[in-house]
Amino acid sequence: MNATQHQIDTKRYAKCIEVSKRIRWDIDRDVIRGRKFDFSKKFLPDGISQVDRLDFLKPDERRLLSQVQGRTYANIFGLVERYIGAKILEVSREHWLGDQVALEALVRFTDEELKHQELFRRIEAMVAEGMPAGYSFMPKPNDVAGAVLSKCTWAVLGLTLHIELFTQAHYRQSIEPDRDLSELWKDVFLFHWKEESQHAILDEMEWQRENAKLDAGQRDRAVTDLIELVAAVDGILQLQAAADTDYFLRICGRSFGKAEVEKLRNTMLKAYRWQYIGSGVQDERFQKILGGMITDAQMQRIGAALGPILA
Ligand SMILES: [Fe+2]
Ligand SMILES: [Fe+2]
Repeated sequence: MNATQHQIDTKRYAKCIEVSKRIRWDIDRDVIRGRKFDFSKKFLPDGISQVDRLDFLKPDERRLLSQVQGRTYANIFGLVERYIGAKILEVSREHWLGDQVALEALVRFTDEELKHQELFRRIEAMVAEGMPAGYSFMPKPNDVAGAVLSKCTWAVLGLTLHIELFTQAHYRQSIEPDRDLSELWKDVFLFHWKEESQHAILDEMEWQRENAKLDAGQRDRAVTDLIELVAAVDGILQLQAAADTDYFLRICGRSFGKAEVEKLRNTMLKAYRWQYIGSGVQDERFQKILGGMITDAQMQRIGAALGPILA
């Protein structure tokens, strides 16, 4: 099947527009509402921060670590949304003179990611006010976007769908049910989740459309690109997990033994790999969509690449 033969599901795009219009929110009016972050509460829940595995930390130290991770969590979204917005604008070109409903859905998607980036910049500034100096977010949005966008569209859309899906899984499974989180922090991800739900559907449709254009050889090279993208994400996570551990060790107010520091470093990296890689690739919907596009041998190739990262 080539691009022109691929059927565009106008109704599904229309449904995304309808929901997007209905749930549309404003950063100040709906999300922040003049509030500040409550630093007496956790940010990232234990289910994704894994700080409950660090039994040598006192409760207030675990809370601090969840705030460090929660700060990075917001920054990671602001980071990836730079490349996502650019990519979605790029793929929208194929609907410019075609299905105007699909085009509108992708324009809204891009507009929402621009708003999310602004939201996460605001969040970083507000969190910075309430935490000691010295935090650094290592990756630069345009550097990462440049590297990601150098890969083929199939791989970039696959990575993007995986991100949109883990965003939803984290919110539903861990953030929403946790009663001990900063209310503002929780609301940020409630509102973000609401818009991401449509993004995942649009990503899926654009990924399927792109997939229909590729022949077997192109798809095999696209799988290689996807594997390289995941490896690049892992490189970022290694850097940031180390930076966040160093920051925590500087600000937590006491020193730890060598074995404890080691456990802290390992747990941080493990948590980040789960947050940004494992929870997405193991998502049932992602597995089903990816599995429907590639061969068993290609699936095994991806599994082998993920093995050491998710061990
Ligand atoms: Fe977003
Ligand atoms: Fe999104």
